[in-house]
Amino acid sequence: MSGQTIGFIGLGNMAGALIGGLRASKEYAATPILGFDRNAHKREAFQEALQVRQAPDAAAVAAASEVLVLAIKPQGLEALLREIRASLRPGALVISLAAGWSLTNLENLLGPDRPVARAMPNINARVGASMTGICHNQQVSEAQLARAVSLFDAMGAVNVMTEDKLGAFSAIAGAGPAFAFAFLDALSTAGVRAGLPRPTAQQAACAMLLGSAKLVAESGEHPRALIDQVTSPGGTTIEGMHALARLGFEHAVQEAVAAVIDKEKRMA
Ligand SMILES: NC(=O)c1ccc[n+]([C@@H]2O[C@H](COP(=O)([O-])OP(=O)(O)OC[C@H]3O[C@@H](n4cnc5c(N)ncnc54)[C@H](OP(=O)(O)O)[C@@H]3O)[C@@H](O)[C@H]2O)c1
Repeated sequence: MSGQTIGFIGLGNMAGALIGGLRASKEYAATPILGFDRNAHKREAFQEALQVRQAPDAAAVAAASEVLVLAIKPQGLEALLREIRASLRPGALVISLAAGWSLTNLENLLGPDRPVARAMPNINARVGASMTGICHNQQVSEAQLARAVSLFDAMGAVNVMTEDKLGAFSAIAGAGPAFAFAFLDALSTAGVRAGLPRPTAQQAACAMLLGSAKLVAESGEHPRALIDQVTSPGGTTIEGMHALARLGFEHAVQEAVAAVIDKEKRMA
């Protein structure tokens, strides 16, 4: 099955991360991948670095692909769908990465019989550590779903869900990296303020966050229980936790996630 052609329209950051993961995997190292981007230099770079065969246009990718990944920004998607819909192979799976484009929107342009999935990866795909949420319509077969999961597995972890959960999931897994980067930056800067060289502060912050996430994920313990283990009575860490609570850390995080979900709904 991995001999089937996989097509990509849009050869930007996310396509690069995804195809990089596929090429590094055993299953997809030699799979035929066909791609089109409206920028010739990107087509050439993808051909050179990732063995992505160049198509003359988007419709040619649609015509040749059993699985077609649409990796362009949401703004251009309607025009692209109108351009390629007559060329799509019968029964081929179309996977859209575009935020704010519902399955119904996609079906409205591609027809109700078309197998369609939405995948929301995150920027950590660049290091093989994406957390991707996937939802799909009823036309997607079990084999096609397994194929979609295995594609995104190549660049991290995958969770399949119903579409009504995807907005909340993406607000945490998709937008969350920006919040995590802001936290890492704030921690590192606090370290610099306390006299550490920036690289040392950043290394400490990154290793701490990686390890803390690993501990929560692997132990299955509630984060509150772990907080309790770190905060000795009358100790130093409880003072830091008190400052975070006083300044509204949890409230700020909750509001940030709610703002992302709200914006996604308005875009849809
Ligand atoms: N990057 C992320 O972390 C992330 C996370 C989750 C989801 N996504 C989603 O993934 C999708 C791709 O994002 P990205 O960050 O990879 O975008 P990107 O780096 O801008 O790549 C998109 C590429 O597609 C090209 N393009 C646009 N319209 C086209 C068309 N009609 N035909 C052919 N090529 C076309 C763009 O060309 P121009 O530069 O000329 O426009 C660009 O080279 C988006 O829908 C985004 O919402 C991204």
